[in-house]
Amino acid sequence: MTTAHTQAGRAAIILAAGQGTRMKSKLPKVLHAIGGRPAIDWVIALAQNTGCSEIVVVVGNHSPEVAAHVSGKLGPQALAVQDPPLGTGHAALSAKQRLAGFVGPVLIMFGDTPLVTEQTLEKLIAGLSEGASVAVLGFEPSDPLLYGRLVVSADGNLERIVEARDASPKEAKIGLCNAGIMAIDGTKLFGLLDRIGNTNAKGEYYLTDIVGLARADGLRVSVTRADADEVLGIDTRAVLAVAEATFQGRMRAKALENGVTLIAPGTVFFSHDTRLAEDVLIEPNVVFGPGVTVEKGATIRAFSHLEGAHVGTGSIIGPFARLRPGADLGADVHIGNFVEVKKSTLGDGVKANHLAYLGDATIGAKTNIGAGTITCNYDGFDKFQTTIGAGAFIGSDTMLVAPVSIGAGAYTGSGSTITKDVPANALSVERSDQRNVEGWAERFRAKKLAAKAAKEGQTK
Ligand code: UD1
Ligand code: MG
Repeated sequence: MTTAHTQAGRAAIILAAGQGTRMKSKLPKVLHAIGGRPAIDWVIALAQNTGCSEIVVVVGNHSPEVAAHVSGKLGPQALAVQDPPLGTGHAALSAKQRLAGFVGPVLIMFGDTPLVTEQTLEKLIAGLSEGASVAVLGFEPSDPLLYGRLVVSADGNLERIVEARDASPKEAKIGLCNAGIMAIDGTKLFGLLDRIGNTNAKGEYYLTDIVGLARADGLRVSVTRADADEVLGIDTRAVLAVAEATFQGRMRAKALENGVTLIAPGTVFFSHDTRLAEDVLIEPNVVFGPGVTVEKGATIRAFSHLEGAHVGTGSIIGPFARLRPGADLGADVHIGNFVEVKKSTLGDGVKANHLAYLGDATIGAKTNIGAGTITCNYDGFDKFQTTIGAGAFIGSDTMLVAPVSIGAGAYTGSGSTITKDVPANALSVERSDQRNVEGWAERFRAKKLAAKAAKEGQTK
């Protein structure tokens, strides 16, 4: 039987049972997203990437959404319920059953602190291999107001952590603060957590008290410093916005480093999973939703919005283009202004340069889609497919009423509403014959002007 008792890897306890009242939101705070990805998912990924074989997420009964979300990702066995939430120390203790006897390092992470890097966590854990039983992540925020203060003795040892509300005026002046994340020797963890009390300003069981308890036992405690922007605890919308900005800054720097040109980096917004190959050029004011891959040498022109899309090598998208989920574009595709593509596969060299909607379509290589073309894919109940062969020419303002298929090399006449399949290499025109009425406009104007003159004569 494999249980935590026999495992000596690393484990993580992720605390996510807090109320998050300061967010003033119906959505639990750990489900608020950074780069399109919920905070808790960032923390879970971090635990996994740091080699944690056991991950316990502590959730509260007041937010079943968090439990459902985590259990969808990691399975129900990853959950530990803390009910009611009585503080971070009490929350960590909720993982006791799952991790009792675990002998490796146990990371305690906060579901609301998503931007820590793997390197920082490695440095933190290194404190344990150097002989400490508890390793604390510290940082120096520009405004330490609500963070716990790290009380360091004259000989440089961390003696205890005092929460802001419990700090003396002198302690409140300490600039070095608790980031919240700790690494603790698994053999000591629950013995220490069991002894945390709640005699403090909030009447809560503070995880931070573990430091004083460890020191009283003569155990060593180490401090690793992190950059302030890594350890933002997302307690308010204002901090959420700062975290988003931090994430965007990292993504922009990474894109530039990887050989992507950003003409105005500060105006381009990424998702956590945006993948851009070398020599991609991004013009100003482009937004990437989740799930976008752009291949080598492609250009995304100004004011385009992409989401769930694949852009092939050398393609040119925009300006003002919208690629929605399932847009799969081959090489050298051109998508121009006010063209929307959804759930459609476009072969190499397809061009749709102006004002079109292409949804639920398969379009063969080198087909030209005229301005104003619309795949009429929806009848209010179901979606229907449009299939267009290679080398076709869809005339401007063609309505393709799906399900419909246009054969390879076929033409459709401008302004046609196509409801029946078109054979390969045919021309399909659906519009009434044109009638020219000679002199009509001249007669019309003369009649109108005469009537106007008569009316003005009467009023004089
Ligand atoms: C905590 C630290 C503080 C540190 C700060 C860093 C404590 C007592 N204080 O304060 O020293 O500077 O983080 O951001 O640890 N949670 C539970 N159950 C609970 C309470 C909280 O699971 O009963 C979870 C929350 O969902 C959150 C995390 O623990 O993910 C931290 O709780 P939060 O209320 O944000 O603590 P802070 O006041 O920020
Ligand atoms: Mg917090």
